[in-house]
Amino acid sequence: MHWHGLKVKGDSDGGPHSVIKPKTSWSAKIDINQHSCTSWYHPHTMHKTGEQVFKGIAGLFIIDDKDSKKLDLPKEYGVDDIPLVIQDRRFDHNGQFIYKQSMHDTMMGVTGNVHLINGISDPFVEVEPKAIRFRILNGANARIYSLTFEDGHEFHQVAGDSSFLPKPVKMKNFILSPGERAEIVVDFSKHAGKTLFFGDGINQRALMKVIVKDTKPTTYKLPKTLLHVKDYENAKVTNTRVFTLNMSMGWLGINNKQMQMNRIDEEVKKDTFEIWEIRNPAPRPHPFHIHGTAFKIISRNGKNPLINELGLKDTVLVYGRETVQLIVTFNHKADKNRPYMYHCHILEHEDAGMMGQFTVS
Ligand code: C2O
Ligand code: CU
Ligand code: CU
Repeated sequence: MHWHGLKVKGDSDGGPHSVIKPKTSWSAKIDINQHSCTSWYHPHTMHKTGEQVFKGIAGLFIIDDKDSKKLDLPKEYGVDDIPLVIQDRRFDHNGQFIYKQSMHDTMMGVTGNVHLINGISDPFVEVEPKAIRFRILNGANARIYSLTFEDGHEFHQVAGDSSFLPKPVKMKNFILSPGERAEIVVDFSKHAGKTLFFGDGINQRALMKVIVKDTKPTTYKLPKTLLHVKDYENAKVTNTRVFTLNMSMGWLGINNKQMQMNRIDEEVKKDTFEIWEIRNPAPRPHPFHIHGTAFKIISRNGKNPLINELGLKDTVLVYGRETVQLIVTFNHKADKNRPYMYHCHILEHEDAGMMGQFTVS
């Protein structure tokens, strides 16, 4: 069981080496020492992550700290601070999940025609006419969502995977790939008594109905600035590594290798700063995730990162024919018995070998 987004030691990280055998248990003792964020957990069993997540093992971790407590953002859990775990599933006629069936499912990733939020199909949420914060996880195995309100309603993104953004970013839609999180604040104060749909702009499909109660509206002003993250200030980069994503003729890998449990692919020094360059020479996008760190995106094809990805991240969508540069640092150790992973977060790609492992010493 892996704590995605938590900066913990390799032996608590729950990677594929930490198998929990049937009828046994595992306790991880973890010190939380990182910025407030919305993280999550899911199994990481070699070749079986996709199936186990698909069948239901996954959940959220919400980390609070003095910054999140101080900021004037909606923060009443389940009332105006609402988690949304988005996943799509394929069902058979008996209402049972149908997982991977073909090579096509491996290459494209397993998607479904039913969209669930927090495990519910056709969900709705009732809110007061005020500002509401949604903490959104793309917990799907493979589907990339473009999240939007059907009426083009504007909202602000305030946080990404591993931290708040420097300031709120106004938007009408945003892309969220598997493994990524986003926190948005939506002002419903002018929508008393109305119903809106939140959905997927790529497939023009409603995911959730938002029913705004017909009560007295509460106005709200977003903070101008959120969090200035100092983690990579004055960082001196001492090493660069290149990771080329391979997808061709039914073969998935990284740097022309497929994941091997007994092969360590990289060795990193603790508390140093490195550039990790992720190259995607093929046309299909891949969400690239790294364990044990919260990184910053430096560039996309040599240009500045998007304005809503200026906070700390642990998963980055690398589009087709794109090269993304990250600055990374690792503050915990991971040895060869319990190494960290980097991989594509399309779980069928991960399971097929688009993953590698590294130590931090
Ligand atoms: Cu969310 Cu290595 O995984
Ligand atoms: Cu992870
Ligand atoms: Cu992939």
